[in-house]
Amino acid sequence: MRRPFVAGNWKMNLTLSQGQALAQAIAAECREGESVDVAVCPAAPYLLPIREAIAGSGVQLGAQNAYFAAPGAFTGEIALDMLLDVGCQWVILGHSERRQYFGDTDALINKKLLAARAKGLGVIFCVGELLAERQENRTEAVLETQMSGGLANVDAGLMDGVVIAYEPVWAIGTGVTASPDQAEAAHLYLRNWLRSQYNDTVADNMRIQYGGSVKPDNAAELLSQPNVDGALVGGASLKADQFLPIIRAARGIVK
Ligand code: PGA
Repeated sequence: MRRPFVAGNWKMNLTLSQGQALAQAIAAECREGESVDVAVCPAAPYLLPIREAIAGSGVQLGAQNAYFAAPGAFTGEIALDMLLDVGCQWVILGHSERRQYFGDTDALINKKLLAARAKGLGVIFCVGELLAERQENRTEAVLETQMSGGLANVDAGLMDGVVIAYEPVWAIGTGVTASPDQAEAAHLYLRNWLRSQYNDTVADNMRIQYGGSVKPDNAAELLSQPNVDGALVGGASLKADQFLPIIRAARGIVK
């Protein structure tokens, strides 16, 4: 059984007070025992105060990136130990903006992912194709490269703390959403990939979030697809009146 998981990726947005108000509004609605896993992923300087804002609620805390090495001389980077120290349960790895602007390769993402799982930190592992790749019918080939690269040497035992986010790059921040059929086809491909590379247990238990212009008015239809187990939400996660309806749409969905 897969519990829906809705995560808000705040990216490099919001002031501290805006983030605190948003987190408090989400926490007020998402109590312990919630039927949906909910996480917020603020920018790193806000992790601690946001942890305080969600304390005692059912909302979990995630970071947007980390470095794989142990704490040491890596100016500007953030160690996984530090994320654990401030109470993170999750780290987003492989986001397309990291891949596009900051040079995160499949090999680097793999190092980060292995290190995060070795420390017990949950990973939201993002994959997704560019528009040109979809137009050239290369979506599945791209997903295969990203999955096999990012998950190299990650054994089945470490996969229970991994969530996959399918985020077609052409749908991120563009207002263009993958159609429910397009999302379902990609998610099914990813689940079958897990079945062939791992086993039925990993494939059947893996939560695969959809990300890319998820909004209150398209969430229910996307989330009702058989292989869509939640959402990674960017723009619409920055306002409680948009993020909360997406959480509500995920409630009661059991797959
Ligand atoms: P978006 O971003 O919802 O603004 O399209 C999603 C993401 O990048 O995770």
